[in-house]
This record gives sequence, structure tokens and C-alpha cells, in this order.
Amino acid sequence: MTFEVIDTDVLVVGAGGAGCRAAIAASDSNQEVTIITKDILGKAHTVMAEGGINAALANLDPDDICEIHARDTCRAGAYLNNQNLAEILANEAPPRIFDLENFGAIFSRTPDGLIMQRPFGHQTYRRTCYAGDRTGHEVLATLTDELRRRQIEIVDEVFATSLLRSRNQISGVTVIEIRTGRFQVFRAPAVIMAAGGAGRIYDVTTNAQADVGSGYAMAYKVGVELIDMEQFQFHPTGAAIPPAARGRLVTEGVRGEGGILLNKDGERFMKRYNPRLLELAGRDEVARSIATEIREGRGTENEAVFLDVSFLPAKIIEERLPTMLEDFLDIGVDIRNEPMEVTPTAHHVMGGLKIDTSAETNLSGLYSAGEVAGGVHGGNRLGGNALAAGQVFGKIAGDSAAKFAEKNSIPSIDRESISKEYSRVMAPLERDEGLSPSDETQRLQRYMWDKAGLFRNEEDLNSALNLIKDQQKQVKSKLAVKNKATRYNTEWISALELQDLILVAEMIVRSALLRKESRGAHYRTDYPNPDNKQWFVNIVTSKKKENMVLTRTPIVITKWAPPWMEK
Ligand code: FUM
Repeated sequence: MTFEVIDTDVLVVGAGGAGCRAAIAASDSNQEVTIITKDILGKAHTVMAEGGINAALANLDPDDICEIHARDTCRAGAYLNNQNLAEILANEAPPRIFDLENFGAIFSRTPDGLIMQRPFGHQTYRRTCYAGDRTGHEVLATLTDELRRRQIEIVDEVFATSLLRSRNQISGVTVIEIRTGRFQVFRAPAVIMAAGGAGRIYDVTTNAQADVGSGYAMAYKVGVELIDMEQFQFHPTGAAIPPAARGRLVTEGVRGEGGILLNKDGERFMKRYNPRLLELAGRDEVARSIATEIREGRGTENEAVFLDVSFLPAKIIEERLPTMLEDFLDIGVDIRNEPMEVTPTAHHVMGGLKIDTSAETNLSGLYSAGEVAGGVHGGNRLGGNALAAGQVFGKIAGDSAAKFAEKNSIPSIDRESISKEYSRVMAPLERDEGLSPSDETQRLQRYMWDKAGLFRNEEDLNSALNLIKDQQKQVKSKLAVKNKATRYNTEWISALELQDLILVAEMIVRSALLRKESRGAHYRTDYPNPDNKQWFVNIVTSKKKENMVLTRTPIVITKWAPPWMEK
């Protein structure tokens, strides 16, 4: 085994909104910064964030302030949030929006020229800044331009396979260079994990193909603690048809602009579930309400409900929801005149790497930001808070990592663990016959959707766990890649991604089994109510020896107590 070793001071893994922002922040120091991505720069899942980015700018609602944004974040998150992180998110979102503007982002405007803000669910005021319904695209294009302007080292099309640790410190990352198939090692004293989410665990998802949970899997394997992995957000509105696009995001911006949900009988059913907030109730509640309508036979023939904006002036739809208009015109639905059909879809991991207020994990030198980091959103993320958290904690992670790198030199690497990792990644290529990565991925996605989705119970979760254990065993010894070329072998990369997906599925299912109550997005039909006495805790997942260990940890209330505590 030979491999190239590339040294840098700050290594950023992932080039979505958070990774790019982290690299920009770190580049303000005199440290050498390298950002790696398995895609081509500019293609990260951030581009799919349509509806907006939250910041209490008070451009339309003068009473909005950061404290109310933070409180809304914790209230929506069922108070599982780390309140210090929620406070930082709210306080630092406005300056990060202005950074984006300074880098060149163009947001939609009020008639007075201020940044326009739309209402999003469960928020007291209109605070979601947007660029039509292409906000993520605008944010990422701006950040990647800024990376290039600063001449930050960008290495694209490399797939990170593992993190390396030397004693109690991060020391680097092993990767496969997809273009050549070469195995390489990046060494760095400070690494920022910003590899995005894991929506591809489920059959129906808004997520890009790339969102396979590698960040969680890599971190877990080197002893990093993860928090709240049972809290997986299902976005209420994914496209229902055509089947190949089932789950594609239909932005909350549609409901923000006034869109209403109707069942097949034309009933505005949210009046029954939440007469006060209606379609702008929390995502967890709206998703469950839609799923209940469908399960109880009030859905359309495509197992969906209707989302209607046809009563709005056509100009509003054309100006504020151009992507929705185009997407639905492509399938012959003109949303100016007729409703869309929508269904809940897997969207966002609210749990993730446990970070402190400097975005550091429990492994010295390893920082994290963006979807892969946990603790900010608690049990239910507000729409618009993902882009905001990426910018806020991306910058914090970049600043912290650069400071750490200044004080710590490039660590030595452990050749034995590199050699083990090399054998692991090569194994599927070396087998001639065996299980197919794509068949096995689909199998996982189906059973996770059926057994560990929006509605959960003990029997289904146990059955999912047995399937996971069995699949882990099979995949370890039988996964085979037919195409033996190492250059641009996407089947090989999928085989490795599948192993990450299964490991993250295990974290989700074990945490969901442990939490015997319903809270936030985690809903157990066998325990439909919150159990505040026993379960007002975070669940922390970590690896001890070879076992996955789950620990209940008390929640510290620094500011906003849940209503039941106040009584
Ligand atoms: O619905 C949306 O536009 C998604 C936004 C988000 O998840 O933050």
C-alpha cells in the first residue's frame, strides 16, 4: 500500500454552505486552508434549500429581536436544544446575512430596498430572508465565488472515508480521489466536519444523492459523541408525483406566501389539527397531520394532499416562487390555476456531532458545522434555520479551527489505522460475486421508511434494528462491485457510502427505540405523549470499544423553560 500524504493547517470536509463559510473564516488567519468535497464545487445540497435563511432583521416586523428568534428556535425544538447554541444562532444570524451581502449575494427586496422577509412556520415574526425560492443557490454561488476570490485550496471529487486520530487529537482524513481512484491522506491539526446530512437513509427524501451520512459515520468511528440522533425531520411538503421525483422539496415558502393544504374532499384540514397556526404550525405537526389524512383515507390517489396557491395573484407566484412554478409546469401542473399534490418527505437530521459554543467536538481539533452538527435545533428545526446555522457555526468553526491550528503543529499519523482503512475500502472491489450496492441501498431505504419513519413503534423499530444488524454483517463480507476500474467508479463509492448509511440508520433506530415517548419530530404511536419526568433528556450516542452506547444526559435550561416546567 502506498499513498500520498498532503499536509495543510485547517482541513474542511464538505463544501456546502457551512463548509464554505468555515473555509472563508479560517482563511482570515495566516493558516493554510484546504476544502475538500466529493462533488464538484457549487453542487452541494445547500443549493436545494429553497425558501430562505432566518435572521431577526426586523425589516417588516419591527418588534422582532434576536432573543425572540432564539426562543422560537427552542420552543419549536421541544426544548431539546442546547440553548447557548440557539442563542448564538439568533444573535449572529444578522451579521452573517450582511457578510453574504458583502460577498455579493442578492436577496429579494421590499419596496423600500430592504431585505425581504417571509413568514415561516412556528415563528413569531416574518424573519426568513430569501432570494425568490432559490435562496440556497444564491448563498452557495456567492460563497464559492468568495472561496475562489480568496484563492483557497479547493480539492473537489474526493471522497472522505475516515477520520484519523492520534491519541486524543484529530490528525487527518483518508480519502479516495474519485477521478483516479487513488487512496490519499490529508494531515492537519484542525479538521472541520461539514459533510452534510443523511436523508438518503429514507426512500422518499428531499436530499441530494450525496447526503449519505458519512460525516456522522466517520466521527462516530473515532469516538466523537453524537446527540439526538432519533430526531429526524420530515418536511411536510415533498412533491408526490412523478414517482421518480417523489419527495423533491416543495418549499415552505409556498405556505409562507399563503398556500393552503386541502384533503381530497376539499377540507382545509389543518383547521382540525392546529386552528391557530394552520399551515404554519411546526413542521413536525404539519407533516404528521398530512400523513394522518393520507393514512385515514382522505388523501389523493397519489397518496398525497393538495397544496393550493391558485387564489394568489399570478405575479406573486411568478416573482416569489419561480422554481415551484417551473417544476410543476414540467409535469403539466400550472400552480397559478391548480393545486400541487404533496406528501411528507425525509429532510433533515436534527441530531449530529455534539459541539460546544466554539463548534468543537469532544475530539480535540475536530470542529463541526452545518447539518452534520447537532444540538442547535433540538427536536424540530425551524424552516430557514439550516442555512442560518450553516453560516453562523461555519464561521465559528473556521475561526476556532484556525486558532487551534496556530497553536498545534501537524500531528503524526497512525499507519496501522490507515492500513486497516485501506483494506476496508478496497474489499468490495476485490470480491467478484456478491451483494449489489444499489440493491442493498434501496433495501435499507425501504425498511427505514416503513419502520423508522414519521410514525414509529417498538415492534417496527426492533424489526428495523434486526434488519440493520443483518445487513451490516452481509455487507461487511459480501458487498461486491462489478466494475473493477478504480477511476470514476461510482459503484465503488456507493458501496462505501452504503456502509455509512447503515451505521447512521443504526444510530437513529437505537436512539428511537430508547426514547419511549413522543417529543419533537420523534413520534411513537405506542407512547404518543411526552414523558417529561423520564425523557426530558438528550440522548448521546458514542462508540465504546466496539459497542454503540447510548447515554441519557440532562438538559440545561439557561433561559427558556418549557411551559410544563413553569407551572
Ligand atoms: O422549505 C424550504 O424551503 C426548506 C427550508 C429549510 O429546510 O430550511
